[in-house]
Amino acid sequence: MSDKKKILSASASNHHDRMEELRKLSAEAEAGGGVERREKEHKAGKLTARERIHLLLDENSFEELDKFVRHNCVDFGMEEQRPPGDGFVTGFGRIDGRLVYVFAQDFTVFGGSLSEANARKICKIMDLAMRAGAPLIGLNDSGGARIQEGVASLAGYADIFLRNTLASGVIPQISAIMGPCAGGAVYSPAITDFIFMTRETSYMFVTGPDVIKTVTHEEVTKQELGGAMTHNEKSGVAHFIARDDADCLAMIRELMSFLPSNNLEDPARRATFDSPTRRDESLNSLVPEDAQQPYDIKDAIHAIVDDGYFFEVHEHFAKNLVVGFARLDGRPAGFVANQPSFLAGVLDISASVKGARFVRFCDAFNIPLITFEDVPGFLPGTQQEFGGIIRHGAKLLFAFAEATVPKITVITRKAYGGAYCVMASKHLRTDANFAWPTAEIAVMGPESAVNIVYKRELDKASESNREVLRQEKIEEFRQRFANPFVAAERGYIDAVIEPADTRARIITALRALENKRDINPRKKHGNIPL
Ligand code: HXC
Repeated sequence: MSDKKKILSASASNHHDRMEELRKLSAEAEAGGGVERREKEHKAGKLTARERIHLLLDENSFEELDKFVRHNCVDFGMEEQRPPGDGFVTGFGRIDGRLVYVFAQDFTVFGGSLSEANARKICKIMDLAMRAGAPLIGLNDSGGARIQEGVASLAGYADIFLRNTLASGVIPQISAIMGPCAGGAVYSPAITDFIFMTRETSYMFVTGPDVIKTVTHEEVTKQELGGAMTHNEKSGVAHFIARDDADCLAMIRELMSFLPSNNLEDPARRATFDSPTRRDESLNSLVPEDAQQPYDIKDAIHAIVDDGYFFEVHEHFAKNLVVGFARLDGRPAGFVANQPSFLAGVLDISASVKGARFVRFCDAFNIPLITFEDVPGFLPGTQQEFGGIIRHGAKLLFAFAEATVPKITVITRKAYGGAYCVMASKHLRTDANFAWPTAEIAVMGPESAVNIVYKRELDKASESNREVLRQEKIEEFRQRFANPFVAAERGYIDAVIEPADTRARIITALRALENKRDINPRKKHGNIPL
């Protein structure tokens, strides 16, 4: 064989070897922690990182980055175990054709723990997502900081927290908790916009049951302490609960359909056959004659939105305030509604915080806000006052006041006192304020008002006359104040509308506000009462 032929043949075999090496490395990375560990996950009802990404993204759209990154730890025998990818799968892909960046922690590799190397992988896609103006989705399933790496791992977390913070309000950030998420690791999801949790297989806490037992002597299981229902119902840390991994990933795709890719875009519109002028006669009789009787505000929302489809957020937390997304004439909108069928729709600490965060999300991402109001006021009591209802209630007020997206309010019944001002009243730059004829806009309810204003007369009246007089005064007060017309006379209500026409009126208002521009004074940032 000539020298030239020898060189060519060596180079061909070299190429062949490299191809083999690529395939081998790739297979090694894809194998994660091996068959046994993968099976353990499956038995526990969990999918692996790669299976999750496959379900989350459009078919064949995933482009993996940093598949061959390895850690550099040489302590505790770690130099002997350096799997390619280092237990995190990162990259980008599409959801309904739209670009998203994604990372998934692979519990089968060192328990999905965060190393210096895989923290860099996450930071890389976070930076790319910011540059591309694309949402970031994190699928969390991790034992936390990689213990063998010490402070290098903590540094990795802090690098991620910084990027989460800087990306807040620029690109939507979504976290799914699909396994453990403990210690300081919880703070990355906590900064993101929405947290999903899987029902049986996930938990989140800052300190686990063992530490709690040592410090406070409380005995609590992992699920009770930080399971999906705990965070959906009690703490409000999580916004969504999913049956399992597949359900969770489908829900993330659904949520994404309501969101823009970044703060400079509008959310995507979707064609609908639901007529913008559709009337719904059932709304004319939704509010009961008796002002003390509850009704379900979600019936109103379902009746008004496109195809009756409402994607509720924070469904299990602070049920006295309903928040979520729906479409009107194909255009996504955020709904905030007092719920008369739960605690009479009163505003308390949890409802205020829930509402404020949702309003701020919508405002950051150009999603119009539709507010339905039927609120007797703020919840009285020492628990609320000591808990800081003043500060927390102010958050909701602040959020509505600073929001510059199109804002539309419909008062269906009670709009009493401070809660009237807070719930996107005209005075907070709300663009269209409607009231149903059943609206009662007053400083307080007729009963309470009469007890204060006519206290002296009522005290003076004989026992037999007192109740008759009270009822007379209540009726008088109701006629005079507990209606929408006094506010309409002053222009605080733009129109008193027939409930059946609510959909058409809101859509007409939204169309008129399509090019709305409003700005807040220049500042570094406001100081919302946290
Ligand atoms: C390195 C870890 C690890 C970690 C788990 N593993 N957590 N390796 N660093 N943090 C490894 C285990 O050694 C094991 O390896 C494999 O992952 C699976 O773990 P198991 O314990 O077998 O699984 P399971 O019984 O399901 O228990 C899961 C767990 C437990 C509850 C998460 O592993 C655990 O308690 N891990 C430590 C959690 C922790 O305290 N992390 C630090 C939190 S503080 P093999 O080879 O046997 O499969 C923190 C600070 C962040 O994260 C600070 C940010 C500012």
